[in-house]
Amino acid sequence: MTTLANLNGKVMPLSEVMVPALDRGFLFGDAIYEVLRVYQGKAFLLDEHWRRLERSLEAVRITGVDLKRLRQRLLETIAAAGFPEAMAYLQITRGAAAARSHAFPEAATPLELISVQEYVDTYSPYRRQGAAVITLPDLRWERCDVKSTNLLANVLATQSAKEAGALEVLLYLADGHLTEGSHSSFFAVLDGQLRTTPNGHAILPGVTRQFVVGLAERIGISLYEHMLKREGLTRVTELFLTGTTSEVLPVVMADGKPIGEGKPGPVTRRLQAAYVVEVEKFVASGVGGGAAPRGQQKKTPRRALPPPHPPAPQ
Ligand code: PDD
Repeated sequence: MTTLANLNGKVMPLSEVMVPALDRGFLFGDAIYEVLRVYQGKAFLLDEHWRRLERSLEAVRITGVDLKRLRQRLLETIAAAGFPEAMAYLQITRGAAAARSHAFPEAATPLELISVQEYVDTYSPYRRQGAAVITLPDLRWERCDVKSTNLLANVLATQSAKEAGALEVLLYLADGHLTEGSHSSFFAVLDGQLRTTPNGHAILPGVTRQFVVGLAERIGISLYEHMLKREGLTRVTELFLTGTTSEVLPVVMADGKPIGEGKPGPVTRRLQAAYVVEVEKFVASGVGGGAAPRGQQKKTPRRALPPPHPPAPQ
């Protein structure tokens, strides 16, 4: 299925988008982005993603973006793409200058790219059975709270995980404190307490992380925002990742050692189930932009709840 794009207001297949070689996003990674999940044609947690987008723009001082127009374009592109299940990507670069130069150009118009691709949920078996992670040093810069496209350290870490047969990497600082995953947030149960890294410059303020914090509160699971040390992983009884597309994803193995009993635990299962219910409620509600064209909305629930006793991971 063709991924649909909108480049500065022009709609075209993503494969036809051309970006100038002098664009600062291409040259310097001088750009910010967002990834949203579309369920049954509607963008989930749109306001939350939008707030983070505005915050990122401000942090890197990209100005001159008409945010109201951009949001409208996003919703129109989601509707025009017509995929009930989709992933929307939005990137804003500082634009192109006449020549390569590190300092901001005097006059550059930000480049605004939106793309909407059909979402194929490859995470689903991991959500049922749990995934493996490895740990690696966090080699990123000191403003990981900015959702910048400068992702080389994340890319290298993810590739190492792939080569190790793991799904994700938990990154740790020089003092051993774990920050987050290379492309997801994480939560752990230690001494019976659910905890996650506090927001700050060391991690991306994950939209899903914050949603899960709220969910935990609503269903009566107390949560502590404390950093976990890498060596603490051996005492952790449950571990899970959160992210826009991964949602709530159990981790059953870290650095080759089982987490808890080596299967998704009860806190993780409760939060997974609560997350599914919230998505179902969102789909059934009148809120959320970019409704799918008539006839494309599915009547069946998008996914069954995770089974209470999933098969043990391989
Ligand atoms: N990744 N931490 C990092 C470093 C991330 O890149 C992401 C998201 C998250 C989870 O954030 P959220 O819940 O808002 O999706 C945490 C996106 C999806 C990506 O780069 O593709």
